Amino acid sequence: MIYFDNAATGGFKPDSVINAATAAIKFSANPGRSGHKLSIACLERVYACRKLLCDFFGGYSFDRVVFTKNCTEALNIAILGVLKPGDSVVTTVAEHNSVLRPLEFLKKKGVNVAYAPLDVNGNIDLVALAAKVTARTRAVIITLASNVTGTSPDIKKLRRFIPENCLLICDGAQACGHVEINMKESGIDALCVAGHKGMLGIQGSGALLFSERLNPSPVTFGGTGSESNNLNMPDFYPDRLESGTISAPAAISMGEGVLYLRQHMQKNARFVVGLTEYLCSEFGKTEGVRLYSVPNPYGIVAIALDNMQSEVAAYNLSEEYGICVRGGLHCAPLMHASLSDEGLVRISVSAFNTENECETLVSAIKNLVK
Ligand code: ALA
Repeated sequence: MIYFDNAATGGFKPDSVINAATAAIKFSANPGRSGHKLSIACLERVYACRKLLCDFFGGYSFDRVVFTKNCTEALNIAILGVLKPGDSVVTTVAEHNSVLRPLEFLKKKGVNVAYAPLDVNGNIDLVALAAKVTARTRAVIITLASNVTGTSPDIKKLRRFIPENCLLICDGAQACGHVEINMKESGIDALCVAGHKGMLGIQGSGALLFSERLNPSPVTFGGTGSESNNLNMPDFYPDRLESGTISAPAAISMGEGVLYLRQHMQKNARFVVGLTEYLCSEFGKTEGVRLYSVPNPYGIVAIALDNMQSEVAAYNLSEEYGICVRGGLHCAPLMHASLSDEGLVRISVSAFNTENECETLVSAIKNLVK
């Protein structure tokens, strides 16, 4: 099979990640529940990963790195744990359901939600977004890269457009591990991370990093191994937001991913841009194919075929050509509505794909549109 569904979950993990996760499964002590040597060693290993993530993303402090099971959980904490009835937020039509659904839930409880549109080129319209932000806007919530087309906003520019006191909450699901992100330099208050995509970790890994300007309330409650006689969640981080046993193998896999990315991320990003350049150039001149992406380091290229529904095209690619892509709606309904598409074939390449594989895909798509 040729795997071009890396935006859904990364198809390749470095050996170092697999070995570290496997060792953590074999090791199997609970980080932070018991005082014995194995538990303490596991806790220290997990804390080392918090520090790695904090450093990698220019975070504010390692205790403000919370491990989650995925990016969705991180976004839920950053949204449900922060916004209160009466607050106003501005988000965008490019967001994933992991932003839209918690916001629509809060809308029914009195949070005002405004959506910024796309511009004529299909990018998030930052000028229109800024125009919706008022002095009372509590937060802007925005993706760093669309999971549908790979379009990405200039986040430093956005920070300059919005008031100092407005929180900036970013969905990093498709951007983290692909490009450098520095929270402090970009003025990002909360960064939501998927561990199993660009970060090269295993499924079940994710993280929320946040600044001192944000004090999220817990959205789940339970044991933390600290202050066990307290009937409420501890008021310090990360314990306040980490109820229940965290997945040490998942956290450790993400930490190992960071070590790998420190060496390889820039070179990999250049290679991925090259692959997307090739795909965009080929699809842009193929009759019967509509192209929705421009070359990007996130590896995402979305197309529609004039003669076939995207789900059918994805099915044919899998069955006839052994190529894995995602078809249909990609959990981002307002994005599809804004692009007026009825579902797209999303090809998502990684640095572990090859030019030959891309050529095979192009020729398969040409056959399908014939
Ligand atoms: N959010 C992931 C995707 O875009 C699952 O496919």
